[in-house]
Amino acid sequence: MPGARKAMKRIGRNDPCWCMSGRKYKVCHMAFDEKIQRYALEGHMVPEHHMIKTKRQIEGIRESSKINIAVLDHVAEKIQIGMSTEEIDQLVYEKTTQMGGIPAPLGYDGFPKSVCTSVNSQVCHGIPSEKDILKDGDIVNVDVSTIFQGYFSDSSRMFMLGNVASETQKLVETAHRCLEIGLEQVKPWNFLGDMAQAINDHAKENGYSIVREIGGHGVGLEFHEEPFVSYVTEKGTEMLMVPGMVFTIEPMVNMGSADIYIDDDNGWTVYTEDGLPSAQWEITVAVTEDGYEVLTW
Ligand code: MF3
Ligand code: CO
Repeated sequence: MPGARKAMKRIGRNDPCWCMSGRKYKVCHMAFDEKIQRYALEGHMVPEHHMIKTKRQIEGIRESSKINIAVLDHVAEKIQIGMSTEEIDQLVYEKTTQMGGIPAPLGYDGFPKSVCTSVNSQVCHGIPSEKDILKDGDIVNVDVSTIFQGYFSDSSRMFMLGNVASETQKLVETAHRCLEIGLEQVKPWNFLGDMAQAINDHAKENGYSIVREIGGHGVGLEFHEEPFVSYVTEKGTEMLMVPGMVFTIEPMVNMGSADIYIDDDNGWTVYTEDGLPSAQWEITVAVTEDGYEVLTW
């Protein structure tokens, strides 16, 4: 891709490396850039330098992630039947700010709350409300994103309340399994499409579908960074994975068709077209030298 090519022309062998290690380019990332360039010449999409985080940046995202995990653990402890989604929002706001973080959704593109809560046929971006009371048999996705010292982390979990229908439980479990199966494909020199196909195949084998229009994203220095991460593309396609990339894995798994629509009134909440339930788990993951590191879960 242009980024790698430009960088290779611009940086001299003896110049300091772009990664801020302080080492000379030729003994640092030069061979790495050349390898990426070979993939680009074969026609693959490859990451530009701004999509590759330094060790220090990953450390920052790891610290932010610790808050994100603690907030989800806090919600897990308190969530119960009869609680409104507004109360979940309060739990998230309080825990995040107590730990020195900022809830990333609050005010993001005008989003009015600190967390997304998506119940049953809501696919994602549900807005907490005191009118929405969790009831026996509901499934709810709580999607928490945190800013800490300028670094962003993003993860979500499903919660099942009371007696959830066994077919709905299976949906929630399969969505979780999709994430594990996707994770197995995360390693340097694989493609995002390898992960996508593994996830999509597993969903399809169970009779489910994966939402096409909304996916994951790079994350860390901003809430949503490049690349867009699809979970319906094919093996060998999409962007090359290289060490230092940080992105989310967050496939939305629908029990019925993959079709969705957005709530006209609030402009945010995404629903399944057929009204059947949807489940989603999300993690933030870093590509390492030999595989992956899950930063939030
Ligand atoms: N974690 C969600 C995502 O990455 C957050 C959505 S943005 C919000 O899609 F403003 F709705 F929070
Ligand atoms: Co996300």
